[in-house]
Amino acid sequence: MEKPFRRRDLLGIRNLSAEEIVGILDTAENFSEISNREVKKVPALRGKTVINLFFEASTRTRTSFELAAKRLSADAVNISVASSSVSKGETLIDTAMNLDAMAPDCIVVRHSSAGVPHQLAKVSRAAIVNAGDGANEHPTQALLDAMTIREHKKQIEGLEVAIVGDILHSRVARSNIHLLTKMGAKVRVAGPGTLVPKDFQHLIDVESQSDGTSPKSKIQNPKSLVVCDHVEDALDGADVVMILRIQRERQDSAYFPTLREYSIHYGLTNERLERAKKDAIVLHPGPMNRGIEIASEVADSSRSLILDQVKYGVAVRMAVLYLATGGSVVKS
Ligand code: CP
Repeated sequence: MEKPFRRRDLLGIRNLSAEEIVGILDTAENFSEISNREVKKVPALRGKTVINLFFEASTRTRTSFELAAKRLSADAVNISVASSSVSKGETLIDTAMNLDAMAPDCIVVRHSSAGVPHQLAKVSRAAIVNAGDGANEHPTQALLDAMTIREHKKQIEGLEVAIVGDILHSRVARSNIHLLTKMGAKVRVAGPGTLVPKDFQHLIDVESQSDGTSPKSKIQNPKSLVVCDHVEDALDGADVVMILRIQRERQDSAYFPTLREYSIHYGLTNERLERAKKDAIVLHPGPMNRGIEIASEVADSSRSLILDQVKYGVAVRMAVLYLATGGSVVKS
């Protein structure tokens, strides 16, 4: 069964409906077997052009968007800030308008400032896909996390999900909180008090206004998000444990005394993981700081689905590129 996907740009999760999220996940599930074929290519996006415009470092997101485009037969062009004329002083909007003049069908953008994809969407004829904007959103990460959870737990509704770590600076946390609560999961967040403010929910709502998209956009089910005082409270009985990276590049002051202390009090070890359900799964968006937010004994264990997340990232990005360039939702 095919259903038109009415949205052109993918700027964040907060403005998507649960139905739209399911449509992307179903389409991704459909595309996922292409990566297992000997010839990993279908003609779905033949003749389309995708530009990857990355102003921040990336291993997983940039590579998987490029692979996703190529596996659908699109032409993929990668631009990094060091090799672009931004390094000569060109403004972001001028850069976007010049790229747009070359008639790409989709521009995938990552930037250290929140709201950049939303600005580009206003001046571009191409579909804009947010590959991470500052501490705001990382929608395709939340979608691939959701696909990983769905593949292993069959459904997201009713699950207890613990998100632990640097919540304050995390676009992954924001996108996941929006997605998981829309899909009926309960989310508990925990970390050092300086990185998990008590009024975190309010902070999310305020930030959703600063991007200029929808001032009324708030977490749909406020009771589905609980801020825990202790990491153990978040882990107790969890079905899914999502560990976040300590983002030293976004921290302009000391949020905790030392990395060693962080690891002792908040790092996920096998002992701490005992508090979660016996069949709990462990996710981490990468890149990992081994021995800080996650012990190697957990990262390399059978409960860790970190490489599955990377695998599903290609399928999710194939679905996003396909839908953003006019494709219809494909049900499995
Ligand atoms: N998870 C993630 O965004 O990884 P990269 O920074 O390597 O793209």
